[in-house]
Order: sequence, then structure tokens, then C-alpha cells
Amino acid sequence: IKITDLRLTVVGIPRHTGFVNKHVIVELFTNEGITGIGEMSDFSHLPRYAVDIKDLANVLKSMLVGKNPFDISLINKELLDNFPEAMYYYEKGSFIRNGIDAALHDLCGKYLNISVAELLGGRYQEKIKVCYPIFRHRFIEEVEENLEVVRQRYAQGFDVFRLYAGKNVDADEAFLDAVQQEFGSEVKIKSLDFSHLLDWKESLKIVKRLSKYDFEMVESPAVRNDFDGLYHIRTRIDHPISEHVWSNRQQYEMIKRDSVDIYNISPIFIGGITAAKKAASAAEVVGKSVLLGTTQELSIGTAAMAHLGGTLLNLNYTSDPTGPELYVGDVVKNKIQYIDGYLHVPDRSLPGLGVELDWDLIEKYRIDDLSWGDVTVHQLQDRTAQVK
Ligand code: LMR
Ligand code: MG
Repeated sequence: IKITDLRLTVVGIPRHTGFVNKHVIVELFTNEGITGIGEMSDFSHLPRYAVDIKDLANVLKSMLVGKNPFDISLINKELLDNFPEAMYYYEKGSFIRNGIDAALHDLCGKYLNISVAELLGGRYQEKIKVCYPIFRHRFIEEVEENLEVVRQRYAQGFDVFRLYAGKNVDADEAFLDAVQQEFGSEVKIKSLDFSHLLDWKESLKIVKRLSKYDFEMVESPAVRNDFDGLYHIRTRIDHPISEHVWSNRQQYEMIKRDSVDIYNISPIFIGGITAAKKAASAAEVVGKSVLLGTTQELSIGTAAMAHLGGTLLNLNYTSDPTGPELYVGDVVKNKIQYIDGYLHVPDRSLPGLGVELDWDLIEKYRIDDLSWGDVTVHQLQDRTAQVK
């Protein structure tokens, strides 16, 4: 089997928050008539420049056409040579590598007629507990809107939420207080997520202030790549610290300094299932847990994460991927399902990732390119359409 062609299709899909995210659908065609699909999810992150999609398609074709898709290690090595790791969370090269690696896995699974989870070593769990995100408050008026989100999502089966925090701490506190009053122990808060926007000492102050409410962990409470800062805050609070993994070097530095308790692993931010599996194994080797993070993928990207998560032995905490619930639409015929707050790994009987493209939906959301519209840094940091 050989790869004969590649196609990239850009879609822009709004979230229920109003914020529109741009994703790239990947198709890898072969001489066997089998097509592998993947997703370069969510290019709507800073820095605010765009990848030229036509040029990217040509570059990827020059690397992939003629290759055997089972040469996953070799292709990943070449992808890494062409799109090197950076010490940056939202490095667009990682998004590109991720989409190709997912499509390779889909292709190989389909060729062998097995699911990606089986290709990755087999299923250890069939479902993954997830939490619904509450995006960062900047204004006190947003508290009531977010409470309504909790009400609706709780009615749908989500009983764990995570809170992006730290820009309006009065609003954060009002939100946590209202959730506790209205739902008591029925609703749990998984984490306060500071998204690397604050110095660790500022995060520490906020964590202390909000510690009268229950939350399980503190995520990204230091500026990016401040490994010592993470360690300092980690030793000063009781909550476990979680942090994303965005390069091998960054994970090494965190391991060396014992900076975190829980490694947040997402294929999108580390550049694919292959790289994510390695990062999860590194965490396992040093006796740490992982959770599945997210950029908020569509169903293709979420399926890839579900298959990966299904194989992990150290996935001990609630995970984050809820994209298919967050967006108003999707691009597949069989959207990923959430039941009682669990992401279910697509059934073993479905080969590859187990999702099928729906071209009517793709046409509905198709856009020409990844160019930036009129968005603000706050909108990009907080993932809301709030214009103030
Ligand atoms: C999102 O798009 O909602 C996330 O990727 C935000 C984040 O935590 O980086
Ligand atoms: Mg994202």
C-alpha cells in the first residue's frame, strides 16, 4: 500500500459561545482505494499569522506521496524534521504533524480492519471521564450565562466542569459559589486553569483565595516554560498541579524538576498520537498520571484521542476533550457520543478511527483559508466571542 495523494480542506465552525474555530480536514489517498482521514484541529490560537494551506498541501505531498503508511515512525521523523518542535504550546507545526499522524493511523487501521486503539496496543478502557469547560470570565455579567451552561450540560449528563480562571477573580469566586449553592456535591469542579497567563505567585494568591471551594487540581499556574515556578507553587498548595506537554524537551525539564503531578497529554499540542503516546509513557515511567487534554477537536480529532486514551494505563484523572459538544456542528456522519459525562471509544468493530466524513456538512462549513478575521487577543485567550 502506498500513499498516492493528499487533500486538505479548511472548515470554520462556531462554538456555542459564538467563537469560530478553523480546522483542517486531512485525507490521505492510496493505491488500494483506502482513504485515511485526520484533523489538524483548531488553528484559531495565537500567534496571529496563518499557514498557507495550498503551500502546506504541496509540502506534505512532496513528503508523503509514494510512502507506505505503515512507516509511521519514519514519517513522523520526517514530519519532525520539517516541522520541528518549539517550546511553545500553540506551535502550529504540532497541529500539522497531528493531522497527518491521525490520518496514517486511520489508514493503517482500515487496511488491517482493526480499530486504532487495537493498532496502538489494545483497549484498557472503553470510556473516558471528561469535564465540560467554562471559559474565562472577564465580566461579572458572564457568571449567570455560565451557570446556565452548567445547568444545561448537567441535565445532559456532564457532572464535572473545569474553570478557566484568573482574569476576574471576583467573577471566578461568584461562579464557584453559585455552583456550590445550586448543585452541592452533585457537580464537581475538576480544575482551575490559568492558561500560563499569570506568574506563579499571582496564581498562588488566587488558588488560596478560592480554596474554600472544592476543585481537584490546578492547571498551568505559571508562565510558559517556567519549570521552577511550577515546582514552587506545587510545593505550596495541596492540590495536584497539571501541565500540558508541548515538546520532549519541555517534558524532560518538568520531569527533572518534579514540576507537576499530572501530565496533560493532547496529540494536537505534542504533534500526533505517536508523540502523545511517548509522552504518556514518559509520565508512566516516572510514576506520574496523565489526563487527556484538548484544543477542542471536531469528531475526527476527538476519536483519535479516544482511541489513544483507551490504551493508557496511567489515565487517572478526568480528561478534557468535549469538542463535539462544544461546536454547533461537525463534519462526520457519526458524531462522537458522550454518555453520562464519558467519552466513549468508538466501537472495536469500526476500523481505523471509526468516523466517516459527511461532505454535506463539510460543504456547509467550508472556508477558503486559515486567514484571521477581526479577533482580539482576549477572545483568543479566553475562547469567547465577548467583544468588550
Ligand atoms: C480551546 O480552544 O478552548 C482550548 O484550546 C483553550 C486552551 O486551553 O488552550
Ligand atoms: Mg483550542
